[in-house]
Amino acid sequence: MDFQTTSKSLLDWSGDGLGFGLFEEATELTADLAQLNQRVAGNLADLIIELEFKGKEGSTGVLRVGSQGPVRKLLLIGLGKQGDFGADKLRRASATLARLARKEKLKTLALSLPLPGGDQALAAQMMVEGVELGLYQDQRFKSEPEDKSQTPEAVVFLGLEPQAAAIAKGQAMAAGVNLARQLVAAPANVVNPVTLAQTAADIAAQGGLSLEVLEQEECEKFGQGMGAFLGVARASDLPPKFIHLTYKPTGTPRRKLAIVGKGLTFDSGGLNLKVAGSGIETMKMDMGGAAAVLGAAQVIGQLQPDVEVHFISAVTENMISGRALHPGDVLTAANGKTIEVGNTDAEGRLTLADALVFTESLKVDAIVDLATLTGACVVALGDEMAGLWSTSKTLQAELLEAAELAGEKLWPMPLEEKYLEGIKSPIADWKNVGPRGGGAITAALFLKQFVQETPWAHLDVAGPVWADKENGCNGAGATGYGVRTLVNWVMSS
Ligand code: BES
Ligand code: ZN
Ligand code: ZN
Repeated sequence: MDFQTTSKSLLDWSGDGLGFGLFEEATELTADLAQLNQRVAGNLADLIIELEFKGKEGSTGVLRVGSQGPVRKLLLIGLGKQGDFGADKLRRASATLARLARKEKLKTLALSLPLPGGDQALAAQMMVEGVELGLYQDQRFKSEPEDKSQTPEAVVFLGLEPQAAAIAKGQAMAAGVNLARQLVAAPANVVNPVTLAQTAADIAAQGGLSLEVLEQEECEKFGQGMGAFLGVARASDLPPKFIHLTYKPTGTPRRKLAIVGKGLTFDSGGLNLKVAGSGIETMKMDMGGAAAVLGAAQVIGQLQPDVEVHFISAVTENMISGRALHPGDVLTAANGKTIEVGNTDAEGRLTLADALVFTESLKVDAIVDLATLTGACVVALGDEMAGLWSTSKTLQAELLEAAELAGEKLWPMPLEEKYLEGIKSPIADWKNVGPRGGGAITAALFLKQFVQETPWAHLDVAGPVWADKENGCNGAGATGYGVRTLVNWVMSS
């Protein structure tokens, strides 16, 4: 996609489609739009009346102007209330307009949209992200891909000075999100521990990151042995891969950060096999945390901040076989702590326990993990937002701010120590399941036992990793949730 900026207004541009927005409760057309309306013989005002167009967020309208004039079609988008407008609303509006342009078969598209806070660079980045994310389609598994010729070839942002850096940033960000979407949406017979390690190698090669993949024997040797991670991996016919990508800036890093992702390329539940109706067929998405981590690694490799970042995932699949974990088994994690496996389907926290112990040994300033950890978090918060647990108020505030700019919803949850009782085991140090109530909290508390002193945050992304229907920048399917929040967090650190 070719992105350009121009200082031209919407009255001076010529091309196939001109997209612009109207705020809710804006009773009169702005001066520019009134003039545009005159040029099209009052048809714009008529359309607004006909459609009863009120500027409601996400509502759209199309006016065919004809092939003679400077513009073939006018595309209207509702922007919601003016006072609520911000970066993410601009991103979403751009996504909707781009999709509309594709539907209307427009090759060139101009966007004339308000700039949040008058910030041109931010606006350009948001519009690029919106267009690239909104137009994303995944046809890898169709034998005959749909014709792509209707997708706009060039998008011009009106009323802006040159914004090459912001455009490049938006493109890098969108490519990272789209990589995560592809990884999550790919079935478990395509994305598995071996291919995911290969993807990490590709990212390392492109972005100048270093890659270390710990094979099973190396995982056995780390600390007191990664018994929790390897216990989960035992029933798979594929080798586990412990992925560790490192981005180092050229100068001295301002901060050292680590991001850890749950990487179950398939979660059958293990011997506590997921039953019919439990969504077992959707469990290819159980590496959504790892996908966000890899997507973020790709973006960070391109944006080159002054921060050292470690990207980590203990990757395997949770399967059944004669070698599988038995419910009731006791495992020893790399820090020597023992865990009774109350339920083999609570496997994510087992893999993360060892990943967190490894990560803390790197002596970083903060650790953030992302995991499709619990159905309980989806019950609590639905599929629009992730839950956030943190041992540090500062880190929590940083993440909430990063998520806000990203347009990825995140909600703070409690690390209620009282519930630790629920995961104490009569036979071992800990049990990997607690009582039914507060299941997302006990999962977070379990993880906390494997981080000693480094400020740490945990995002349970089981809900927002997947969308059932199109909404804003997301189509139906994998969302790439977390990539933008992670990148924003690293960039502002
Ligand atoms: N991968 C699942 C969690 C999940 C559920 C992700 C729905 C995405 C959508 C996780 O490994 C799991 O199975 N968790 C169990 C934990 C239980 C056995 C304590 C759950 O949430 O039911
Ligand atoms: Zn599970
Ligand atoms: Zn799982």
